[in-house]
Amino acid sequence: MTYTYLIISTTFYAFISIFSWPDAKDYTPSPLTEPDLEESIKLGEAIYQGYCLACHMNEGEGLPGAFPPLAKSDYLMADKERSIRQVMHGSEGEMVVNGETYNGVMPPQPLSDEEIAHVLNFVRNSWGNEGEVVTFAEVKAIRDE
Ligand code: HEC
Repeated sequence: MTYTYLIISTTFYAFISIFSWPDAKDYTPSPLTEPDLEESIKLGEAIYQGYCLACHMNEGEGLPGAFPPLAKSDYLMADKERSIRQVMHGSEGEMVVNGETYNGVMPPQPLSDEEIAHVLNFVRNSWGNEGEVVTFAEVKAIRDE
């Protein structure tokens, strides 16, 4: 099972990182290390539960007429950059998701660039969705617009 693999690899990584003290040269500022997709999905699940689940529901199914679905959402999957803006800035007004019109307000989410990448990697790879990785650099580029 992927979960078993994730738990083992996360535990292993945590174990290793305790014992490897970085060299002094590692303290110089460097570009963010990009996430591994599997690792990012796992981190994103917890963020989803804390920030998105209340509206988009446990299986990403949303709430008819109020909150659009993320599960198999054509709107979510059609445009990666737009999905980054959606989480970072929120939105209001009409949008059509899987043929249904929603006209609600989603508040901007108080998440870091890394957290936005993780939560999007989770929703873009759950409940039947499959998407390529969202990187920290892509989120930062949108933040800097
Ligand atoms: C307070 C309720 C609420 C919360 C919390 C919330 N959303 Fe939304 N979300 C909405 C509403 C309402 C819309 C439609 C907004 C509109 O009509 O402009 C939406 C739209 C979206 C869309 C685009 C439409 C779609 O279904 O594909 C995405 C993607 C999305 N939200 C992701 C997230 C993620 C990820 C989080 C958590 C980080 C989150 N939302 C948190 C209410 C919420």
